[in-house]
Amino acid sequence: MKKKLRAPLKPKQENIGKLKELLEVVSRGKYLWESTFDAIQDPVLIIGPNYRVERANMAAAERSNHDVRELIGKKCYQIFAQRDDVCPFCPLQRTLQEREPLSVVIDQLRTDADFEVNSYPLVPGTKRTEYRVVHHYRDVTEEKMLQRKLVQSEKMAAIGMLAGGVAHEINNPLGGILAFTQLLQRELPKDSAAQSDLSEIEGAARRCKKIVQDLLTFSRPTQEGDKELLNLNELFEKILTLTRLDLRAAQIILQLELDETLPVVRGAATRLQQVFLNLVTNAMQAISGGGKITVKTFCEGPWVVLEVHDTGCGIRSENLPRIFDPFFTTKGPQIGTGLGLSICYSIILEHQGKIEVQSQEGTGALFRILLPRAAEVTSTMEKTVYEKENINY
Ligand SMILES: Nc1ncnc2c1ncn2[C@@H]1O[C@H](COP(=O)(O)OP(=O)(O)O)[C@@H](O)[C@H]1O
Ligand SMILES: [Mg+2]
Repeated sequence: MKKKLRAPLKPKQENIGKLKELLEVVSRGKYLWESTFDAIQDPVLIIGPNYRVERANMAAAERSNHDVRELIGKKCYQIFAQRDDVCPFCPLQRTLQEREPLSVVIDQLRTDADFEVNSYPLVPGTKRTEYRVVHHYRDVTEEKMLQRKLVQSEKMAAIGMLAGGVAHEINNPLGGILAFTQLLQRELPKDSAAQSDLSEIEGAARRCKKIVQDLLTFSRPTQEGDKELLNLNELFEKILTLTRLDLRAAQIILQLELDETLPVVRGAATRLQQVFLNLVTNAMQAISGGGKITVKTFCEGPWVVLEVHDTGCGIRSENLPRIFDPFFTTKGPQIGTGLGLSICYSIILEHQGKIEVQSQEGTGALFRILLPRAAEVTSTMEKTVYEKENINY
């Protein structure tokens, strides 16, 4: 059947009116979205899979010292981060792949600043080339500097004074005890019954010297970047010398279930010890009238895990989202500063790890530290990210 040809319809006056209205709605919508985009004080970019900038807000233009139009079509790492290559830990490809929002803190994204990059997938088209991500950049340079200061000040507040003052005080009398014990051992006949008592004294004095040494090591300020290969079991056992007496006094049983074949991790020993000490101290403070703390280490996929599980008072569900906030404490001013867990959080973040907690009021608490196995750190360095959402409740 032949199709009838029809003359094109002449636009009616009412159709033109409707079209005009529609155009106005679209223009108003465009203006509103553009001004909203520009009203955001932090840089925001819309980027394609090849890192090319498709849209940029005013803050992004200002921060990169370019006109907005100059940003379009350029590679984000060149124009915004002022780099020749893709930024380390850039979340773009992972966001595209997983199509889930991702938050990453990138140290020195630009030479002058650290940024938290919040990466959101845009409703994708059908082809990968049509996928886009929104990157929202939050400058965290000052925040991080403050955190670093807090790490040091909490450490000093917690045991710095003790280490500096008491350790030196104890060192001298300890030296005397050791010297006189050895003198007596030499003076008394070898088969004397007192010899075994003396070697007990010598052993105890040497253990005390080790505690003092640990205290001094602990209070030494740690340099950024002095990471080494570490065995978490050994590291944890070192802090036990600091807590053993307190555990006994509080009638707390410490059960260790340490995996002998634990792979090594790359980390700063004193910083990680501080994390463990904070967790054990919190566990001890949560227990009243005796209880138990179980410490486990094991391997879980790419992670080396250390768990501290206590039978203490537990954490109320409304407090759970706040326990990692600096200065959040449910303890009296003489006991808690509220800095312990926030410092743990930032230290674990520095190690590209995760800290997780599970707890219910009245049933104790379980804290899990997950650190990447050393082999993992080197082989997947490019992919490793500092995730902000690494607290699981
Ligand atoms: N093992 C635990 N059991 C119960 N509550 C805990 C435990 N660990 C931490 N908390 C809660 O988290 C809060 C914050 O801990 P933290 O940052 O170490 O500060 P502080 O110990 O100085 O209060 C504590 O005040 C306490 O309410
Ligand atoms: Mg604490």
